[in-house]
Amino acid sequence: MKKAFVTGWPISHSLSPVLHGFWLKKLGIDGSYEALPVEETNFPEFLKALSSSGFEGGNITIPHKETAFKNIDIPDKAARAIGAVNTLWFSENGTLCGGNTDAYGFSANLDQFLPRWREGQSALILGAGGASRAIIYALIEAGFKNIHIANRTLERSINLANHFGKTCSAGKWDSAIDHIQTADLIVNTTSVGMAGKLDMIFPDLGKAQANAIVTDIVYTPLETPFLLAAKQHNLETVDGLGMLLHQAVPGFEKWFGIRPDVTDELRQHVLEALND
Ligand code: ATR
Repeated sequence: MKKAFVTGWPISHSLSPVLHGFWLKKLGIDGSYEALPVEETNFPEFLKALSSSGFEGGNITIPHKETAFKNIDIPDKAARAIGAVNTLWFSENGTLCGGNTDAYGFSANLDQFLPRWREGQSALILGAGGASRAIIYALIEAGFKNIHIANRTLERSINLANHFGKTCSAGKWDSAIDHIQTADLIVNTTSVGMAGKLDMIFPDLGKAQANAIVTDIVYTPLETPFLLAAKQHNLETVDGLGMLLHQAVPGFEKWFGIRPDVTDELRQHVLEALND
């Protein structure tokens, strides 16, 4: 039986076991996918012991993504650019490899629902944390030429823009308003709007171009206040759940040997677990 895991701290709310479990059952694979709580101080030891643990690999989530990147043998291109690892597997000779599939998940979600996003050139990103980093990498890979990062803490948006070079500019949260008229894609990567948390005021989406696409990485609630505001201004939107579903695909394929599909049935199944 092939085994995979997700580890983080805390990990009990992770939806990854729900979605990988769905695929294992659907595809009739004799395998398992379990959540392993590992505290930050124990994580390096956990990684060292992995090769003799019987796992094919697994997912890494908060707060271990950056530590994983620093402690694996071979990072893939996305992991190097993002500086974080969310997927682990072993090469044929037993080397521990790490990838980052968050950027892939972000792009694949937009590809599924609004493929015209790839025609865009300019993007406005709210937030400058780990998720923002993966999304900026995805946008650069997709050929975006101007990416503005607006963040509550200016220092973090400047650091991120410097990391990715001249395609990016940075500003404080309020700087978003100067970029909203020209952005083809507008992304919220912050937790503002999650579970009713609305202490910051979003830039006025009424100023956006009529064909601008608006997306949010928060999926609790599925229709966030940001997406709702976009809809009220007749803008097309994509919710954040698909990023979670699509980022899981490459790992599952590596561990269990079959590339699974992101279907409506999977989406419904995960939504039911979310609402439980
Ligand atoms: P993640 O890895 O999920 O991106 P993170 O690294 O903690 O998480 O980043 C969270 C992002 O949400 C940051 O951009 C953070 O802004 P700061 O850099 O100023 O902390 C942003 N964020 C979180 N809560 C916020 C709030 N109440 N108002 C505005 N921005 C907020």
